Amino acid sequence: MSAAAPRVTVPPRATAAPRVTPEQVAHYDRPGPRYTSYPTAVEFNDRFTAADYEARLAQADARGDAPLSVYTHIPFCAERCLFCACHVIASPLGTRVTEPYLAHLFREIELVAARLPRRRRVAQYQWGGGTPTYLSVAEIHALLDHFERFFRFEPGAEIAIEVDPRVTTAAQLRALRDRGFNRISLGVQDLDAAVQEAIGRVQPVPVTAATVQEARRLGFRGINVDLIYGLPNQTLESFAATVDSVIALEPDRLAIYSFAFVPWLKGNQRKLATDVLPDRDTKIALILAARERLLAAGYRAIGMDHFAKPDDELSLALDGGRLRRNFMGYTVQEAPDMIGFGVSAIGQVQGAYVQNHKKLTGYYDDLDAGRLPVERGYAMSADDVLRADVIQALMCDFAVDRATIERRHNVDFATYFASELAQVQALAAEGLAEVGPDAIRVTPLGELFVRNLAMCFDRYLAAAQAGAKPRFSRTI
Ligand SMILES: C[S@@+](CC[C@H](N)C(=O)[O-])C[C@H]1O[C@@H](n2cnc3c(N)ncnc32)[C@H](O)[C@@H]1O
Ligand code: SF4
Repeated sequence: MSAAAPRVTVPPRATAAPRVTPEQVAHYDRPGPRYTSYPTAVEFNDRFTAADYEARLAQADARGDAPLSVYTHIPFCAERCLFCACHVIASPLGTRVTEPYLAHLFREIELVAARLPRRRRVAQYQWGGGTPTYLSVAEIHALLDHFERFFRFEPGAEIAIEVDPRVTTAAQLRALRDRGFNRISLGVQDLDAAVQEAIGRVQPVPVTAATVQEARRLGFRGINVDLIYGLPNQTLESFAATVDSVIALEPDRLAIYSFAFVPWLKGNQRKLATDVLPDRDTKIALILAARERLLAAGYRAIGMDHFAKPDDELSLALDGGRLRRNFMGYTVQEAPDMIGFGVSAIGQVQGAYVQNHKKLTGYYDDLDAGRLPVERGYAMSADDVLRADVIQALMCDFAVDRATIERRHNVDFATYFASELAQVQALAAEGLAEVGPDAIRVTPLGELFVRNLAMCFDRYLAAAQAGAKPRFSRTI
């Protein structure tokens, strides 16, 4: 592990964390979406079927040879971490779960490729999970061989993977790099022993450090580390030490996620000790202190929860207005259609969200019958597309340029969003934004509560929250 100073030291945006009072924290802490999509997945429904997906794929094919984004979900993990909210199938390593899974995934690739005879170029490709490095080296090659029988990577394509350092070997990293993977993200969460114990994920620092170093040696770029704040047993001191240790590893990027505590959705989270969860004032203090340390170390704050070195592509995308938010978090501008492969995978094709079956049985049954394995989806209206654009601008650029929105969507901003603007004005009066004739600008304080600002433009939120069942994690 290197303790050398970070390579780049220019923090172009805010240089210090904003001041925030406990009253403000209490005031803005409420359930709310993280807006990795708009409308959120809560609105997806089974009226959108495989036939609808087929129609969207036909439209996508009619666009000719435009490059695609492709996401592939590998759901397996050797063990389930107690905090985890991802779509995961826990199965000890060495069990033969991957054999039938890959056979079905191959079938899905064939079915989709048959509907996209003209769309075979791929500009962005990502494996997520679960833990994609649950696959053996031979399986990694087999999946890529099959994919590349139908699709081809563009020169300079972004080919990315999420790995769990605890199960990822140097041989796997080598194979991935040899096959063209060039971006990597490591799950870390927290380096403190008491926190790791509480979340059921013991990951010694040297394991993380070795993976970062090997990835860098092999030439991966955009090396990212995921951390989470708000986990059991975290204290200001322990989390500061985690952040400092991660800074010493010099990743290109960090994602520091707010812990999404959704025990009504995720049974594994019910096993967490809730009496040692940090309260909301501590939680906000954790991210503010982390932010201060990262800015001082030369990282830039990107969007709601990411940090990147100034020469990293995320920083460059922010400057160039190409930063986007999707199901994987912040990303550089994507190709216009994103195909999702694998159980529970979500794609976005020609103005529709499409989600595959979340259970293996449903996924396998459809593919065995030769059907696209669609469980649900959502066809966006023109109003959805407009609001998604405004919410993207808030979440990515911390600013909404009214003229741009008016030009793109042929609306008068002030008239169309009269009631939304009144809500934003109220938050602006509290210091979260500045509302001018040309733009809405999020203030440094508002950056912390940007979900609350985005919620003003969400026309489904009130209905989604009206039911007895909780839907979203809290904004703090
Ligand atoms: C698919 S996992 C990363 C790869 C690999 N499985 C691992 O854990 O190392 C994606 C990331 O989601 C984040 N995550 C999972 N559950 C979360 C939760 N409840 N709240 C916030 N972030 C969460 C974690 O930071 C995790 O690294
Ligand atoms: S955090 Fe990663 S390793 Fe842990 S259960 Fe979730 S997906 Fe699996």
